[in-house]
Amino acid sequence: MGLMIIKNVILNDKTGMLLVENGKIVDFRQESPEDSSAEVYDGRECHVLPSLIDAHVHLREPGFEYKETIKSGLEAAAGGGFGQVMAMANTSPVNDSASVTEFMLARNMESHPAGPFVHPVGALTRNLEGRQLSPLTELKEAGCRAFSNDGLPVKDNELFRRAVEYASDLGMVVIDHCEDTYLAADGVMNEGRISSYLGLKGIPSVAETLQVARDILMAAYLDTPIHLAHISCEESLELIAWAKEKSIPVTAETCPHYLFWDEEIIQGYNTMAKVNPPLRRKKDVLAMRNALKNGVIDIIATDHAPHADFEKEVPFAQAPNGISGLDTALSLCLYLVRRGVLELDDLNWLMSISPGRIFNLPVNTFQKGDPADFILVDMEYEWQVTPEEMLSMGKNTPCMGMELMGRVMAHFMGGKEIFSRF
Ligand code: DOR
Repeated sequence: MGLMIIKNVILNDKTGMLLVENGKIVDFRQESPEDSSAEVYDGRECHVLPSLIDAHVHLREPGFEYKETIKSGLEAAAGGGFGQVMAMANTSPVNDSASVTEFMLARNMESHPAGPFVHPVGALTRNLEGRQLSPLTELKEAGCRAFSNDGLPVKDNELFRRAVEYASDLGMVVIDHCEDTYLAADGVMNEGRISSYLGLKGIPSVAETLQVARDILMAAYLDTPIHLAHISCEESLELIAWAKEKSIPVTAETCPHYLFWDEEIIQGYNTMAKVNPPLRRKKDVLAMRNALKNGVIDIIATDHAPHADFEKEVPFAQAPNGISGLDTALSLCLYLVRRGVLELDDLNWLMSISPGRIFNLPVNTFQKGDPADFILVDMEYEWQVTPEEMLSMGKNTPCMGMELMGRVMAHFMGGKEIFSRF
Protein backbone atom coordinates (compact mmCIF):
# COMPACT_ATOMS: atom_id res chain seq x y z
CA MET A 1 0.00 0.00 0.00
CA GLY A 2 1.40 3.37 -1.03
CA LEU A 3 1.23 6.61 0.85
CA MET A 4 -2.24 7.80 1.83
CA ILE A 5 -3.08 11.26 3.14
CA ILE A 6 -6.17 11.71 5.30
CA LYS A 7 -6.47 15.47 4.99
CA ASN A 8 -8.54 17.88 6.99
CA VAL A 9 -8.75 16.00 10.29
CA ILE A 10 -8.36 17.09 13.92
CA LEU A 11 -5.92 15.26 16.20
CA ASN A 12 -5.38 16.58 19.75
CA ASP A 13 -7.08 19.88 18.85
CA LYS A 14 -4.84 20.49 15.83
CA THR A 15 -6.14 20.42 12.27
CA GLY A 16 -3.83 18.70 9.83
CA MET A 17 -3.28 15.59 7.77
CA LEU A 18 -2.59 12.05 8.82
CA LEU A 19 -0.06 10.18 6.70
CA VAL A 20 -0.39 6.41 6.44
CA GLU A 21 1.70 3.87 4.54
CA ASN A 22 1.76 0.07 4.45
CA GLY A 23 -0.91 -0.10 7.14
CA LYS A 24 1.11 2.02 9.59
CA ILE A 25 1.02 5.59 10.88
CA VAL A 26 3.73 7.72 9.27
CA ASP A 27 3.09 11.23 10.55
CA PHE A 28 0.56 13.90 11.45
CA ARG A 29 1.43 17.30 10.03
CA GLN A 30 0.21 20.58 8.60
CA GLU A 31 2.06 20.69 5.25
CA SER A 32 1.53 18.27 2.35
CA PRO A 33 4.35 15.85 1.59
CA GLU A 34 6.26 16.11 -1.72
CA ASP A 35 4.91 12.73 -2.95
CA SER A 36 2.18 13.77 -5.41
CA SER A 37 1.25 10.15 -6.17
CA ALA A 38 -0.25 9.75 -2.69
CA GLU A 39 -3.92 8.84 -2.43
CA VAL A 40 -5.83 11.68 -0.74
CA TYR A 41 -8.89 11.12 1.47
CA ASP A 42 -10.94 14.06 2.74
CA GLY A 43 -11.57 13.73 6.48
CA ARG A 44 -14.10 16.63 6.38
CA GLU A 45 -12.99 18.18 9.67
CA CYS A 46 -13.67 15.06 11.69
CA HIS A 47 -11.74 14.25 14.83
CA VAL A 48 -9.40 11.32 14.40
CA LEU A 49 -9.34 8.86 17.30
CA PRO A 50 -7.72 5.46 17.68
CA SER A 51 -9.98 2.58 16.64
CA LEU A 52 -11.67 1.39 19.85
CA ILE A 53 -11.07 -1.92 21.62
CA ASP A 54 -13.98 -3.58 23.42
CA ALA A 55 -12.81 -6.13 25.96
CA HIS A 56 -16.29 -7.53 26.61
CA VAL A 57 -18.88 -8.47 24.01
CA HIS A 58 -21.27 -11.36 23.42
CA LEU A 59 -21.52 -12.17 19.71
CA ARG A 60 -23.83 -15.18 20.18
CA GLU A 61 -22.40 -17.32 17.37
CA PRO A 62 -22.25 -20.31 17.42
CA GLY A 63 -25.68 -21.28 18.71
CA PHE A 64 -27.76 -18.12 19.10
CA GLU A 65 -27.62 -16.70 15.58
CA TYR A 66 -31.19 -15.42 15.97
CA LYS A 67 -29.81 -12.85 18.48
CA GLU A 68 -26.60 -11.89 16.66
CA THR A 69 -24.05 -13.39 14.30
CA ILE A 70 -20.34 -12.71 14.15
CA LYS A 71 -21.01 -10.88 10.89
CA SER A 72 -23.75 -8.59 12.27
CA GLY A 73 -21.89 -8.04 15.55
CA LEU A 74 -18.76 -7.01 13.66
CA GLU A 75 -20.77 -4.67 11.44
CA ALA A 76 -22.11 -2.99 14.59
CA ALA A 77 -18.54 -2.89 15.94
CA ALA A 78 -17.22 -1.28 12.74
CA GLY A 79 -19.98 1.37 12.74
CA GLY A 80 -19.61 1.96 16.48
CA GLY A 81 -15.86 2.54 16.18
CA PHE A 82 -14.59 -0.78 17.57
CA GLY A 83 -11.81 -2.42 15.56
CA GLN A 84 -11.14 -5.24 18.03
CA VAL A 85 -13.67 -6.99 20.26
CA MET A 86 -13.16 -9.72 22.83
CA ALA A 87 -16.02 -12.21 22.53
CA MET A 88 -17.18 -14.09 25.61
CA ALA A 89 -17.56 -17.84 25.71
CA ASN A 90 -21.27 -18.29 26.57
CA THR A 91 -22.15 -19.50 23.10
CA SER A 92 -23.63 -22.91 22.25
CA PRO A 93 -21.50 -24.93 22.23
CA VAL A 94 -19.51 -22.99 24.82
CA ASN A 95 -16.10 -21.82 23.62
CA ASP A 96 -14.12 -24.34 25.64
CA SER A 97 -12.33 -26.05 22.76
CA ALA A 98 -10.04 -25.16 19.87
CA SER A 99 -12.76 -26.05 17.37
CA VAL A 100 -15.15 -23.34 18.64
CA THR A 101 -12.37 -20.73 18.82
CA GLU A 102 -11.25 -21.61 15.30
CA PHE A 103 -14.83 -21.47 14.04
CA MET A 104 -15.27 -17.94 15.43
CA LEU A 105 -12.01 -16.77 13.88
CA ALA A 106 -12.96 -18.34 10.52
CA ARG A 107 -16.35 -16.58 10.60
CA ASN A 108 -14.52 -13.30 11.24
CA MET A 109 -12.29 -13.88 8.19
CA GLU A 110 -15.30 -14.75 5.98
CA SER A 111 -17.28 -11.61 6.77
CA HIS A 112 -14.67 -9.01 7.80
CA PRO A 113 -11.19 -10.08 6.65
CA ALA A 114 -9.78 -6.55 7.06
CA GLY A 115 -11.41 -6.02 10.46
CA PRO A 116 -12.95 -5.51 12.92
CA PHE A 117 -11.26 -8.47 14.55
CA VAL A 118 -12.71 -10.87 17.11
CA HIS A 119 -10.47 -12.07 19.91
CA PRO A 120 -12.26 -15.05 21.44
CA VAL A 121 -12.24 -15.34 25.23
CA GLY A 122 -12.03 -19.00 26.20
CA ALA A 123 -14.23 -20.46 28.93
CA LEU A 124 -12.28 -20.85 32.15
CA THR A 125 -14.10 -24.07 32.96
CA ARG A 126 -15.62 -26.78 30.77
CA ASN A 127 -19.08 -25.79 29.55
CA LEU A 128 -18.89 -22.86 32.02
CA GLU A 129 -19.94 -25.35 34.70
CA GLY A 130 -17.32 -24.35 37.25
CA ARG A 131 -16.24 -27.95 37.91
CA GLN A 132 -13.26 -28.70 35.68
CA LEU A 133 -10.75 -26.43 33.95
CA SER A 134 -11.03 -26.01 30.18
CA PRO A 135 -7.99 -27.03 28.11
CA LEU A 136 -6.41 -23.59 28.50
CA THR A 137 -3.24 -24.28 26.48
CA GLU A 138 -5.31 -25.60 23.57
CA LEU A 139 -7.55 -22.52 23.73
CA LYS A 140 -4.59 -20.16 23.76
CA GLU A 141 -2.97 -21.94 20.82
CA ALA A 142 -6.23 -21.74 18.86
CA GLY A 143 -6.34 -17.95 19.30
CA CYS A 144 -8.04 -17.09 22.62
CA ARG A 145 -6.74 -13.86 24.15
CA ALA A 146 -8.08 -14.25 27.69
CA PHE A 147 -10.15 -16.63 29.80
CA SER A 148 -13.44 -16.03 31.57
CA ASN A 149 -16.51 -17.73 32.98
CA ASP A 150 -18.48 -14.56 32.26
CA GLY A 151 -22.17 -15.05 32.95
CA LEU A 152 -21.56 -18.08 35.19
CA PRO A 153 -18.77 -17.15 37.63
CA VAL A 154 -16.66 -19.85 39.30
CA LYS A 155 -17.81 -20.36 42.89
CA ASP A 156 -15.12 -22.87 43.89
CA ASN A 157 -12.23 -20.74 45.22
CA GLU A 158 -9.70 -23.55 44.90
CA LEU A 159 -10.58 -24.13 41.26
CA PHE A 160 -10.50 -20.38 40.63
CA ARG A 161 -7.04 -20.17 42.17
CA ARG A 162 -5.76 -22.96 39.91
CA ALA A 163 -7.34 -21.33 36.88
CA VAL A 164 -5.65 -18.00 37.59
CA GLU A 165 -2.28 -19.69 38.14
CA TYR A 166 -2.56 -21.80 35.00
CA ALA A 167 -3.65 -18.80 32.90
CA SER A 168 -0.80 -16.73 34.26
CA ASP A 169 1.73 -19.44 33.31
CA LEU A 170 0.37 -19.06 29.78
CA GLY A 171 0.74 -15.26 29.96
CA MET A 172 -3.03 -14.79 29.88
CA VAL A 173 -5.35 -12.74 32.05
CA VAL A 174 -8.51 -14.08 33.72
CA ILE A 175 -11.56 -11.84 33.42
CA ASP A 176 -13.92 -12.39 36.33
CA HIS A 177 -17.64 -11.73 36.36
CA CYS A 178 -17.86 -10.69 40.02
CA GLU A 179 -21.02 -12.15 41.43
CA ASP A 180 -21.76 -14.39 44.36
CA THR A 181 -24.44 -16.45 42.71
CA TYR A 182 -25.97 -17.57 46.03
CA LEU A 183 -26.56 -13.98 47.11
CA ALA A 184 -27.77 -12.98 43.65
CA ALA A 185 -29.95 -16.05 43.09
CA ASP A 186 -33.28 -15.30 41.38
CA GLY A 187 -32.68 -11.54 41.68
CA VAL A 188 -33.72 -9.45 38.70
CA MET A 189 -32.77 -5.87 39.65
CA ASN A 190 -30.83 -3.94 42.28
CA GLU A 191 -32.00 -4.72 45.82
CA GLY A 192 -33.44 -1.64 47.49
CA ARG A 193 -36.45 0.61 47.83
CA ILE A 194 -37.45 0.32 44.16
CA SER A 195 -37.22 -3.48 44.04
CA SER A 196 -39.47 -3.63 47.13
CA TYR A 197 -41.90 -1.15 45.60
CA LEU A 198 -42.05 -3.07 42.31
CA GLY A 199 -42.26 -6.42 44.05
CA LEU A 200 -39.19 -7.74 42.26
CA LYS A 201 -36.49 -9.86 43.87
CA GLY A 202 -33.34 -7.80 44.33
CA ILE A 203 -29.64 -8.46 43.79
CA PRO A 204 -27.69 -6.88 46.67
CA SER A 205 -24.48 -4.99 45.90
CA VAL A 206 -22.71 -7.32 48.35
CA ALA A 207 -23.16 -10.08 45.74
CA GLU A 208 -20.65 -8.13 43.65
CA THR A 209 -18.39 -6.76 46.38
CA LEU A 210 -17.80 -10.12 48.07
CA GLN A 211 -16.40 -11.52 44.85
CA VAL A 212 -14.44 -8.34 44.08
CA ALA A 213 -12.85 -8.77 47.52
CA ARG A 214 -12.10 -12.44 46.83
CA ASP A 215 -10.44 -11.60 43.53
CA ILE A 216 -8.38 -8.79 45.03
CA LEU A 217 -7.12 -11.05 47.81
CA MET A 218 -6.42 -13.82 45.29
CA ALA A 219 -4.52 -11.45 42.97
CA ALA A 220 -2.51 -10.21 45.98
CA TYR A 221 -1.73 -13.70 47.28
CA LEU A 222 -0.73 -15.05 43.86
CA ASP A 223 0.77 -11.73 42.73
CA THR A 224 -1.03 -12.36 39.45
CA PRO A 225 -3.30 -10.04 37.43
CA ILE A 226 -7.07 -10.51 37.48
CA HIS A 227 -9.41 -8.31 35.46
CA LEU A 228 -12.72 -7.43 37.13
CA ALA A 229 -15.56 -7.23 34.62
CA HIS A 230 -18.52 -4.82 34.52
CA ILE A 231 -18.18 -3.13 37.92
CA SER A 232 -21.48 -1.56 38.96
CA CYS A 233 -21.33 -0.15 42.50
CA GLU A 234 -19.46 2.34 44.66
CA GLU A 235 -18.39 -0.20 47.30
CA SER A 236 -16.55 -2.22 44.64
CA LEU A 237 -14.75 0.95 43.59
CA GLU A 238 -13.63 1.53 47.18
CA LEU A 239 -12.18 -1.98 47.33
CA ILE A 240 -10.44 -1.57 43.96
CA ALA A 241 -9.00 1.80 45.03
CA TRP A 242 -7.59 0.10 48.14
CA ALA A 243 -6.10 -2.69 46.01
CA LYS A 244 -4.47 -0.22 43.65
CA GLU A 245 -2.98 1.73 46.55
CA LYS A 246 -1.37 -1.53 47.65
CA SER A 247 -0.17 -2.24 44.07
CA ILE A 248 -2.25 -5.41 43.87
CA PRO A 249 -2.40 -6.31 40.16
CA VAL A 250 -6.14 -5.97 39.51
CA THR A 251 -7.68 -4.01 36.66
CA ALA A 252 -11.33 -3.05 36.40
CA GLU A 253 -13.92 -2.28 33.78
CA THR A 254 -17.29 -0.60 33.75
CA CYS A 255 -19.83 -0.17 30.95
CA PRO A 256 -21.67 2.81 29.47
CA HIS A 257 -24.96 1.74 31.10
CA TYR A 258 -23.48 2.03 34.62
CA LEU A 259 -22.37 5.57 33.71
CA PHE A 260 -25.81 6.71 32.57
CA TRP A 261 -28.72 4.96 34.22
CA ASP A 262 -29.72 3.97 37.71
CA GLU A 263 -32.40 1.64 39.06
CA GLU A 264 -35.12 4.32 38.63
CA ILE A 265 -35.28 3.37 34.96
CA ILE A 266 -36.76 -0.01 35.97
CA GLN A 267 -39.96 1.78 37.13
CA GLY A 268 -42.48 0.73 34.50
CA TYR A 269 -40.76 -2.66 34.29
CA ASN A 270 -38.49 -1.63 31.43
CA THR A 271 -36.88 -4.89 30.28
CA MET A 272 -34.49 -2.95 28.01
CA ALA A 273 -32.67 -1.90 31.18
CA LYS A 274 -32.48 -5.39 32.66
CA VAL A 275 -28.83 -6.33 32.84
CA ASN A 276 -26.51 -8.30 35.07
CA PRO A 277 -25.02 -6.84 37.24
CA PRO A 278 -28.09 -4.62 37.61
CA LEU A 279 -28.26 -0.85 37.29
CA ARG A 280 -27.67 0.46 40.82
CA ARG A 281 -28.30 3.74 42.69
CA LYS A 282 -27.73 7.35 41.57
CA LYS A 283 -24.70 7.58 43.82
CA ASP A 284 -23.15 4.57 42.07
CA VAL A 285 -23.48 6.31 38.70
CA LEU A 286 -21.71 9.39 40.08
CA ALA A 287 -19.01 7.29 41.76
CA MET A 288 -18.47 5.39 38.50
CA ARG A 289 -17.97 8.64 36.59
CA ASN A 290 -15.39 9.79 39.16
CA ALA A 291 -13.63 6.44 38.94
CA LEU A 292 -12.97 7.02 35.23
CA LYS A 293 -10.96 10.09 36.13
CA ASN A 294 -9.02 8.85 39.15
CA GLY A 295 -7.75 5.62 37.58
CA VAL A 296 -9.80 3.21 39.70
CA ILE A 297 -11.58 2.08 36.52
CA ASP A 298 -9.13 1.08 33.79
CA ILE A 299 -11.42 0.53 30.85
CA ILE A 300 -14.90 1.09 29.46
CA ALA A 301 -16.25 -2.06 27.77
CA THR A 302 -19.76 -2.45 26.39
CA ASP A 303 -20.80 -5.92 27.67
CA HIS A 304 -22.70 -5.91 24.35
CA ALA A 305 -25.43 -8.49 25.03
CA PRO A 306 -27.89 -8.62 22.11
CA HIS A 307 -31.23 -10.40 22.50
CA ALA A 308 -34.18 -10.87 20.13
CA ASP A 309 -37.21 -8.57 20.54
CA PHE A 310 -39.52 -11.43 21.51
CA GLU A 311 -37.22 -12.38 24.39
CA LYS A 312 -37.42 -8.91 25.95
CA GLU A 313 -41.19 -8.52 25.30
CA VAL A 314 -42.16 -10.56 28.36
CA PRO A 315 -42.80 -9.78 32.05
CA PHE A 316 -39.71 -8.19 33.64
CA ALA A 317 -38.73 -11.15 35.81
CA GLN A 318 -38.69 -13.49 32.81
CA ALA A 319 -36.69 -11.30 30.42
CA PRO A 320 -33.03 -12.16 29.77
CA ASN A 321 -30.27 -9.88 31.07
CA GLY A 322 -28.38 -7.73 28.63
CA ILE A 323 -28.06 -4.46 26.74
CA SER A 324 -26.97 -4.17 23.13
CA GLY A 325 -24.08 -1.70 23.32
CA LEU A 326 -21.78 -1.56 20.30
CA ASP A 327 -23.86 0.92 18.28
CA THR A 328 -24.28 3.53 21.01
CA ALA A 329 -21.26 3.29 23.36
CA LEU A 330 -19.09 5.93 21.74
CA SER A 331 -21.89 8.49 21.35
CA LEU A 332 -22.86 7.99 25.02
CA CYS A 333 -19.28 8.42 26.18
CA LEU A 334 -18.84 11.53 24.03
CA TYR A 335 -21.63 13.05 26.10
CA LEU A 336 -19.31 12.70 29.11
CA VAL A 337 -16.64 14.56 27.14
CA ARG A 338 -19.05 17.37 26.25
CA ARG A 339 -20.08 17.64 29.91
CA GLY A 340 -16.43 17.92 30.96
CA VAL A 341 -16.49 14.64 32.93
CA LEU A 342 -13.74 13.31 30.64
CA GLU A 343 -11.22 14.70 28.17
CA LEU A 344 -11.03 13.13 24.73
CA ASP A 345 -7.62 11.78 25.74
CA ASP A 346 -9.17 9.97 28.72
CA LEU A 347 -11.66 8.37 26.34
CA ASN A 348 -8.86 7.20 24.02
CA TRP A 349 -7.17 5.69 27.03
CA LEU A 350 -10.27 4.00 28.50
CA MET A 351 -11.69 2.69 25.22
CA SER A 352 -8.56 1.84 23.26
CA ILE A 353 -5.07 2.12 24.72
CA SER A 354 -5.74 0.72 28.19
CA PRO A 355 -7.71 -2.38 27.04
CA GLY A 356 -5.05 -2.94 24.39
CA ARG A 357 -2.31 -2.89 27.04
CA ILE A 358 -4.15 -5.13 29.52
CA PHE A 359 -4.88 -7.79 26.90
CA ASN A 360 -1.74 -7.38 24.82
CA LEU A 361 -3.48 -6.23 21.64
CA PRO A 362 -2.12 -3.85 18.98
CA VAL A 363 -2.86 -0.20 19.81
CA ASN A 364 -2.60 3.04 17.87
CA THR A 365 -1.16 5.99 19.79
CA PHE A 366 -0.54 7.89 16.51
CA GLN A 367 3.21 7.42 16.80
CA LYS A 368 5.23 6.54 13.69
CA GLY A 369 4.98 2.78 13.08
CA ASP A 370 1.73 2.26 15.05
CA PRO A 371 -1.02 0.31 13.27
CA ALA A 372 -3.14 2.67 11.15
CA ASP A 373 -6.32 1.70 13.04
CA PHE A 374 -8.40 4.84 13.49
CA ILE A 375 -11.86 6.32 13.30
CA LEU A 376 -13.07 9.66 11.97
CA VAL A 377 -15.68 11.08 14.32
CA ASP A 378 -18.06 13.96 13.61
CA MET A 379 -18.57 15.40 17.10
CA GLU A 380 -21.64 17.43 16.09
CA TYR A 381 -23.48 14.69 14.18
CA GLU A 382 -26.94 14.28 15.69
CA TRP A 383 -28.75 11.01 15.30
CA GLN A 384 -31.71 9.23 16.78
CA VAL A 385 -31.37 5.67 18.02
CA THR A 386 -33.86 3.61 16.01
CA PRO A 387 -33.90 -0.12 15.18
CA GLU A 388 -32.88 0.79 11.59
CA GLU A 389 -29.92 2.92 12.71
CA MET A 390 -28.55 0.09 14.84
CA LEU A 391 -26.38 -2.37 12.95
CA SER A 392 -26.54 -5.00 15.66
CA MET A 393 -29.38 -7.51 15.38
CA GLY A 394 -30.04 -6.82 19.08
CA LYS A 395 -32.21 -3.71 19.43
CA ASN A 396 -32.38 -4.09 23.21
CA THR A 397 -31.17 -0.81 24.61
CA PRO A 398 -32.56 1.82 26.98
CA CYS A 399 -31.21 4.32 24.39
CA MET A 400 -33.96 3.44 21.92
CA GLY A 401 -35.56 6.67 20.66
CA MET A 402 -32.90 8.90 22.26
CA GLU A 403 -31.16 11.68 20.32
CA LEU A 404 -27.40 11.25 20.57
CA MET A 405 -24.58 13.45 19.38
CA GLY A 406 -21.25 12.39 17.84
CA ARG A 407 -20.82 9.54 15.40
CA VAL A 408 -18.23 7.48 13.58
CA MET A 409 -18.12 8.64 9.95
CA ALA A 410 -15.34 6.34 8.76
CA HIS A 411 -13.28 3.52 10.22
CA PHE A 412 -9.85 2.39 9.05
CA MET A 413 -7.98 -0.76 10.06
CA GLY A 414 -4.42 -1.30 8.89
CA GLY A 415 -4.87 1.78 6.69
CA LYS A 416 -7.90 0.28 4.85
CA GLU A 417 -11.35 1.79 5.08
CA ILE A 418 -13.60 -0.87 6.59
CA PHE A 419 -16.69 1.28 7.19
CA SER A 420 -18.06 4.61 5.99
CA ARG A 421 -21.08 6.85 6.62
CA PHE A 422 -19.80 9.61 4.32
O1 DOR B 1 -26.45 -8.77 31.25
C1 DOR B 1 -25.72 -9.70 30.96
N1 DOR B 1 -25.88 -10.38 29.81
N2 DOR B 1 -24.78 -10.08 31.84
C2 DOR B 1 -24.05 -11.19 31.66
O2 DOR B 1 -23.23 -11.47 32.48
C3 DOR B 1 -24.29 -12.07 30.49
C4 DOR B 1 -24.90 -11.33 29.39
C5 DOR B 1 -25.46 -12.20 28.30
O3 DOR B 1 -24.78 -13.12 27.85
O4 DOR B 1 -26.58 -11.91 27.84
